[in-house]
Amino acid sequence: MVKRAGGALLFSIEIDHAAPRPVTTQLYAGLRELMLSGAIAGGERLPATRTLAAELGLSRTTVIQAFDRLIAEGLIESRVGAGSFVSTALNADRPLPPPAPDSAGSAPRVPRLSRAMRWAVDRFGPRPRLPHQPRPFITALPAYDAFPMAQWARLMAKHWRVSRDEAMGYGEPSGHGALRRAIAGHLRSNRGIGCEADEIFIVGGAQQAFHLIGSVLLDPGDRVWFENPGAIGARNSLLACGADLVPVPVDRDGLRVEDGLARARQFRLAFVTPSHQQPLGHVLSLERRFALLQAAEQAGAWIVEDDYDGEFFFGRRPLPTLKSVDRTGLVIYVGTFSKSLFPALRLGFMLVPGELVEVFRTVAAAFVQGVPTSVQAGVAEFIEEGHFATHIRRMRRIYQERHAALIEAAGRHLAGALEVMPTDSGLHTIGRLAPGLSETAVAAAADRHRVTVSPIARFSIEPAAERGLVLGFGGVAPPAIRAGVETLARAIDEVARHADAPPIGMAV
Ligand SMILES: Cc1ncc(COP(=O)(O)O)c(C=O)c1O
Repeated sequence: MVKRAGGALLFSIEIDHAAPRPVTTQLYAGLRELMLSGAIAGGERLPATRTLAAELGLSRTTVIQAFDRLIAEGLIESRVGAGSFVSTALNADRPLPPPAPDSAGSAPRVPRLSRAMRWAVDRFGPRPRLPHQPRPFITALPAYDAFPMAQWARLMAKHWRVSRDEAMGYGEPSGHGALRRAIAGHLRSNRGIGCEADEIFIVGGAQQAFHLIGSVLLDPGDRVWFENPGAIGARNSLLACGADLVPVPVDRDGLRVEDGLARARQFRLAFVTPSHQQPLGHVLSLERRFALLQAAEQAGAWIVEDDYDGEFFFGRRPLPTLKSVDRTGLVIYVGTFSKSLFPALRLGFMLVPGELVEVFRTVAAAFVQGVPTSVQAGVAEFIEEGHFATHIRRMRRIYQERHAALIEAAGRHLAGALEVMPTDSGLHTIGRLAPGLSETAVAAAADRHRVTVSPIARFSIEPAAERGLVLGFGGVAPPAIRAGVETLARAIDEVARHADAPPIGMAV
């Protein structure tokens, strides 16, 4: 925008009459930049508005309006009879903008981060995030298409029509009472957990709960057992608190507690997904549950149980939650509505052991959580009136159908290339690739065909024993799942033609 140095710079401000940004704003921004960057010094006299208007081909009104904004900001001083001057305040010592990265010889400035964040940024889970519109086989997406939107909209509208004091003020720091009571009731009847509302804290999603837990309970460098492969969002939240994640392998019985002990007998926290291991889908066996509780007790560690999709079982009835068999008081149970309702709600909760209630209450009061009270009240009613239970039951049937469609179509079109494993619960499962087929090559080829599969390695902190792909089946209806499987078969075929792998249809 600026071409020449000194006062004459003013006449070089480029105005684009075709741009959507108003001409006055362009002039104002150009003048402001010249003043703040020091290109025109404080105290310098500005040309008369008439002169500037003529030089720039603008109306005088436009120039006066731009000057008026800068006068209001204190950047221009108007002296009666003498004209307009750049404010002398700009000559005071003040921080100058950092040098442009390409200016000769100067290295770009590296922002100074906290110790925890310096540790975390290089270790955060993979980017970019997966696309978030429903397409086969994105993980983590519930069925938007089956959500009772009209009923939901009515309920939400009702809760925005309450008194203004109720809807608009800061809510209860630990979360809306009615919602905490409704969640406690739901956990008692459906997840086998005896609990009270005052042990529950509402948060803006499970990831916020993990971050809050980490910041309350961990010092930077504390060791945290973490399932490998494991949940990406939880990994990032704990890393951001400076956690030193200890990858603990997972097998068909879930977290291998023995391996955890061999790697780090002393640890501060363990993160687990006992009902449906993320991403492999295994259930933590009862033996391992007890072994984990014992290991935590001996280490004086906390356990975070992430029960993110445990409501959606459609095979045999699952084991009850880890929290429900905990007699040590070490388990912090985290729930989310991202799967059971939808992720944009940004609503989750923590159920904390009695010993931690007071500290979390203090923290909640210090940093009030951000879920609108009306939304919390609406969800409370959705649960209380039985709509949530009905929705979960209906979704179980829908996810079971989608799972069946995936297994059936994969059996027909992917045999010999990708063995899609049946699962008893959740919204995703894994597929094992034939030897010679690379996870990343298949994922990339699928993505070119607008089908999303995630390599298991995406979820791993260190190479895991299990290779393959994670396939979400919750987000799209059976016809799209079948079409997606056919597309995936074509993508795998493309990769197989360039790799040492049997073509689709041949047994491995
Ligand atoms: C393992 C796991 N836990 C929890 C969540 C939910 O996180 P949030 O409640 O922050 O949306 C997800 C979402 O994908 C997940 O995969």
